[in-house]
Amino acid sequence: MKKITTNSYEIRFSNDGYDYLNSLLSKKSYSKLFVIVDENTDKYCLEYFKSKTSLKPNVLKIKSGEKYKNLETCKEVWNNLTEMDADRMTLIINLGGGVITDMGGFIASTFKRGLDFINIPTTLLSMVDASIGSKTGINLNLLKNQIGLFSDPQLVIIDTNYLKTLNKREIKSGYAEIIKHCIISNSFFDDLIDRSSIHYNEDIIYNSIQLKNKIVSMDKLENNIRKNLNFGHTIGHAIESFYLNKEDKLLHGEAISIGMICESFISYKKTNFSLEIANKIKTHLNSIYPKINFNKNDLKEILSLMKYDKKNYLNNIRFSLLKEVGKVEIDVEIDEKLIMDSFDFYSN
Ligand code: GLY
Repeated sequence: MKKITTNSYEIRFSNDGYDYLNSLLSKKSYSKLFVIVDENTDKYCLEYFKSKTSLKPNVLKIKSGEKYKNLETCKEVWNNLTEMDADRMTLIINLGGGVITDMGGFIASTFKRGLDFINIPTTLLSMVDASIGSKTGINLNLLKNQIGLFSDPQLVIIDTNYLKTLNKREIKSGYAEIIKHCIISNSFFDDLIDRSSIHYNEDIIYNSIQLKNKIVSMDKLENNIRKNLNFGHTIGHAIESFYLNKEDKLLHGEAISIGMICESFISYKKTNFSLEIANKIKTHLNSIYPKINFNKNDLKEILSLMKYDKKNYLNNIRFSLLKEVGKVEIDVEIDEKLIMDSFDFYSN
């Protein structure tokens, strides 16, 4: 039986997760139970969840998509909780992808100064990344996760059956974080990098969660080693923000994939990362994700969004770069010219 124990909560897999939830419910005597879903998880995951637990929670449904990960949606849910008499002994269950686990955690942690919550990630992205590590938050206009807090769930349940409800594009989006974990930890890297298609299974998912948890256990508040997880994200988040209000959206993993290609090149220039491996990473990611053409104005806007990145301080853009596969250097200051050059590397 797979399980991962973090500093403060359990990550349980499949049926064991639901058994653990039941034991939690009998121990804690919660007054009320709410499950937060979006339009997709309401349709594709809620009935399955109920069948696994025999619970009859109150359901709070929000609109699907990163665009709705904002204060207006939180207000709507806080109002609903108030109208439905949620008190401090209420448990919130977040059933969904990264938007739901990030925002649901934030909603729970701030309502009446903090309700217990559990995460049941239904996407690959949320399983290997968003639901693990106690970050909760929402976007502020175009700025990703600008408002939020560190707050621990009571439990995370990983049930890969939910992945059957996803389309290929969503799966690929989550796969980008698996690749990132392989690159920064040098585990499974050689198995994956020469492939021209995605490859994941329960062991790879388990390994990915374990790797992230190991890092978070050492530095939950992201003062040092947790910044390793930001490889690909300084550029990736800015690209994702840039697309937030556009007709054609980019999914998180699609943006992070571009970020990892660009930042591999910057690593070659700044931290002696091998150009050969940077090219391998580029070839692998380009074989999976759509190629995007950026014009000069796009790049200017993306650069200005980078300036708001939470990793910056003293107005300098900071990167987590690779010295080699499995070794990251954090807080590296990079100038705008090199960032622009990295987009040439991506495009050619
Ligand atoms: N997604 C990066 C982190 O949780 O720190």
